[in-house]
Amino acid sequence: MAWLYSVATIVGLGGIVRFGQNAADALVAETRCYQGVRTNGATDADSRQRLRTHWDCDPGYAMPGLWDGHGHLVQYGEFLNSVDIFGSTTMDEIRNRVSKYVDEHPGAGTAQEWIRGVGWDQMALGAMPTAEDLAADEGLKDLYIMLDRVDVHCIWVSQAVLDLLPEDLPDIPGGEIVRNPGMGVFCDNAVAPVMALWPKPDDKKKAVFLKSAMRQLNQYGLVGMHDAGVSASNLNLFKELAGSEDWTVRVYAMAEYYDRNAICPDPVERYNDPNGFLSIQSVKLFADGALGSWGSAMIDEYADRPGVSGSLLVNASELTYRAVSWATKGFQVNIHAIGDLANRYAIDAQTAALRLLCPCESLADCQARHRFRIEHSQIIHEDDQARMHAIGIIPSIQPTHATSDMAYAELRLGKDRTEKEAYRMRSFLDIRPVLGSDFPVEPADPFQGIYAAVTRKSPHTGRGANGSPDGWHTEEALTLDQAIRGFTEGPAYGGFTEGKTGVIKPGAYADWIVLDKPLEDMDIEELRSLKVRETWVAGKRVYSRD
Ligand SMILES: *[C@@H]1O[C@H](CO)[C@@H](O)[C@H](O)[C@H]1NC(C)=O
Ligand SMILES: [Zn+2]
Repeated sequence: MAWLYSVATIVGLGGIVRFGQNAADALVAETRCYQGVRTNGATDADSRQRLRTHWDCDPGYAMPGLWDGHGHLVQYGEFLNSVDIFGSTTMDEIRNRVSKYVDEHPGAGTAQEWIRGVGWDQMALGAMPTAEDLAADEGLKDLYIMLDRVDVHCIWVSQAVLDLLPEDLPDIPGGEIVRNPGMGVFCDNAVAPVMALWPKPDDKKKAVFLKSAMRQLNQYGLVGMHDAGVSASNLNLFKELAGSEDWTVRVYAMAEYYDRNAICPDPVERYNDPNGFLSIQSVKLFADGALGSWGSAMIDEYADRPGVSGSLLVNASELTYRAVSWATKGFQVNIHAIGDLANRYAIDAQTAALRLLCPCESLADCQARHRFRIEHSQIIHEDDQARMHAIGIIPSIQPTHATSDMAYAELRLGKDRTEKEAYRMRSFLDIRPVLGSDFPVEPADPFQGIYAAVTRKSPHTGRGANGSPDGWHTEEALTLDQAIRGFTEGPAYGGFTEGKTGVIKPGAYADWIVLDKPLEDMDIEELRSLKVRETWVAGKRVYSRD
C-alpha cells in the first residue's frame, strides 16, 4: 500500500475529501498539507496527479482515520467514569481502587447511584469473588457496588445489592448464579434480576458518557466505531445527539434489546444520518457467553472441565427464528458467537436467513449484499470455517482477545482444538475480517490491536503466552498492511461505508489522522505506545496532541 511520500494536500470541504483544491476551496475549507499520505484507496498515480504540492507543509504523515469494528460506546464512557479494576490480582487491590474512587466521588454508592467498575477476573484473583470480599473494607460495607468481569459477561455485587434480591433466587437457564464460595457473582442470563434493580443512568448522564468516550477514542486515532449492541432507548438518544458538536466519532450501531435477543424488531427503524455520523441498519444477537467463564457453547467438553461444554443463551431454532425475523426487516444480522457450537448455530441461522432473503440466488451473492457477521468468531470447527469461506460470512475479530486469552485458551480447549479452530485471523483474510477491540473489555487503542494482530503478543507486556518472547500461533498473524486494513477497509465493508470511510480519496469522508512518521518506518514495538498527533473527522480537527 502506498504512502505518497510527495508533499500532499487534503481538503476537507463540507466534510468530504477533495484533492487539488482551487483558491475558493481553500478559503472555506480546512486545507492541510502533509509530508506523506497513505490513501488506502486512491492509486499512487491518480493521487499524485491531483494532489497539489507545495513545500511549507505541516510536519506529519496522514493516513485514513481508524475504525473500531466492535466496541461499546456508552459502556466505554461509563467505564471512563467508573472504577478501573483491570489488571488487579488481589482483593485488596480491588478494594483499594474502589475506596479511592469513593474518596474522589463523595456520595457515590447510594441506592440511586451505584458504584460501577469493570475489569476483575477470577483467574487472576485465584478465586471467585463474593459480596463478603467487598464488605471486608469498612468503608465499602454498606455501599451499592456492581463490578463487571473483564469480559462483561458476569457481575459481582455488594451485600447492599444482594439484599434487594429475593432470598432464594432460582437458577436461570443460560446463566449462572455463583453460590460458591459465597453469593455475589451473576453470569450471562442470570445478570437480569440484578440489572432490573440497577438504577440506570439517565440520558443526561449518558450524554456525558458519550462525550468522554468520543474524546478518548479521537485521542487514539479513531474516527468511527461499530457499536455492538445499543438498546432501543440509547438508539433514540444517539439519533438526538448525532451530528452535534460533541459527536466526534461516526457510529454504526447494532440494535440490541435489553433481554439481548428480543424477537420483535418493530420498535427499531433503520436510520442513516445523511452526514454519516450515525447508521442503524444492523442487529446484534447473542448465541453464547465467554470462554473465560466456561460460558462459550462448545461442541465437545472443555479440556479443563470434563462434562462441561458451556451453554447457549438461546437454542438453535430460536436463534434461527430471530435471525430470520430481523433479516426480513432489512437488518444486517450480527451474532455474538465464541464457542464452536455457537458459531455453528450462528452460521446455520444466517444461512437460513439468506436463503429466505434470496431464494433464487447463491448464498455468496446474497451475503455480498447483506453482509452478515459473526461477532468474535473465536472458536470455529473446520467444517464451519469452510462454510464461512464459501458463503463469505464476515468474521468480526478482536486481535487483543487472542492475546488476552492466550494464557488459558489452550487449557480450556486442548492443543488440537486450539490449533485447528481458535483465534483465526490470517486464514480469514479472504472473507474481509472486521477488526476491533471490544472496548471497554479491552483497551480501545487501535494500535494495540494492530500490534497484537501482527505479533500475536500482548501489547501490555510485549510478550507471547506465559511470558514467551515469541508470538502465540503466529501462523495466524497478519502483516502490518493487513492489520491496518482490518481497522479501515474491514469495518467499511462490514458497515456498508466502503468508499466513504477507511480511505483518503475524493468523495470520501474527510476523516484522517496524522502521525509523526509512517507506520512502516516504525519498529513494531513502537506501536504499543504510539501517540497520534492529530485526528480529523468530517474535515474538522477533533484532537491535537501538542
Ligand atoms: C427453543 O426455545 C424456544 C423459546 O424459548 C422454545 O419455545 C422451544 O421449545 C425450544 N426448543 C427446544 C428444542 O428446546
Ligand atoms: Zn462486545
